[in-house]
Amino acid sequence: MVTAKSFVEEIIKIENNIHLLKIYSPKIASEITPGQFLNIKVSDNFFPLLRRPFSICDVDEKFIYIMFNILGDGTKILARKRTGEELDILGPLGHGFKTEGNFDTAIIVAGGLGAAPFPLFTKQMSSLGKNIYSFIGGKSESDIITYGMNNTFISTDDGSFGFKGTVIELLNRNIKILQENKIKIFSCGPTPMLRALKEFCVKNNFDCEVSTESAMACGFGICQGCPIESESKKDKYLLVCKDGPVFNIKDVLI
Ligand SMILES: Cc1cc2nc3c(=O)[nH]c(=O)nc-3n(C[C@H](O)[C@H](O)[C@H](O)COP(=O)(O)OP(=O)(O)OC[C@H]3O[C@@H](n4cnc5c(N)ncnc54)[C@H](O)[C@@H]3O)c2cc1C
Ligand code: FES
Repeated sequence: MVTAKSFVEEIIKIENNIHLLKIYSPKIASEITPGQFLNIKVSDNFFPLLRRPFSICDVDEKFIYIMFNILGDGTKILARKRTGEELDILGPLGHGFKTEGNFDTAIIVAGGLGAAPFPLFTKQMSSLGKNIYSFIGGKSESDIITYGMNNTFISTDDGSFGFKGTVIELLNRNIKILQENKIKIFSCGPTPMLRALKEFCVKNNFDCEVSTESAMACGFGICQGCPIESESKKDKYLLVCKDGPVFNIKDVLI
């Protein structure tokens, strides 16, 4: 993990009003693996005080991309950044996805902005020669993000785009793809989706890694501010920033 002089290159708007922030940061870019994150100080003054964590969406030589939607103060400030502005970033942080292993097909399950880590992940899977199917869900069409993903299957709760129902129901409808290949599932998204995915994986005995979220301060294991309960050891907590954000779905209580 390093802090290194980094600069805003540009902000690109992609589908559904999602922003891609392109950051010039050669040193950090050279050390990234899929599923890691950056902790970004969005302003030079004391407001907002805490850095904001963002999944690393993609890396292109000396550039890092993050994906965000304007939600509150931090992302409002980020969206106003101009080309050439210096950006104080800390990264790469955390443990990402285990991309090597005994599977030939990666199944991505992403809900809403949970799509953020998967463009880089998809690139890496392709370079390792793995097949990829991407199951993408949202409440309605405006939540669907397919940027940087291949072989997409879409679901929306209201049926405004793709299959009408949850992404887990969509997985169930396509269970043959999962059963007929040597698969591993990789997921990121809202907690109810991850809970349902855990039930689905346990029932079908599928191996699965999930990228989790928690409120964070330091981002590297000092403040103890981002606990997640361990599944295997009762009353033991892990840190999302240091032990995660990616965990095997069996290891954490979601
Ligand atoms: C490991 C990790 C990776 C993350 N990756 C991304 C990413 O790739 N892209 C991204 O946009 N965000 C990501 N987040 C969330 C991000 O850090 C911010 O919390 C979020 O962007 C909102 O920041 P803000 O300052 O604009 O909003 P705040 O001012 O902090 O909050 C404004 C409002 O939004 C709500 N809110 C805050 N965070 C979320 C959230 N995650 N989902 C729903 N509501 C929320 C708050 O409760 C509040 O009501 C990640 C968080 C973690 C822990
Ligand atoms: S954010 Fe400080 S320990 Fe995780």
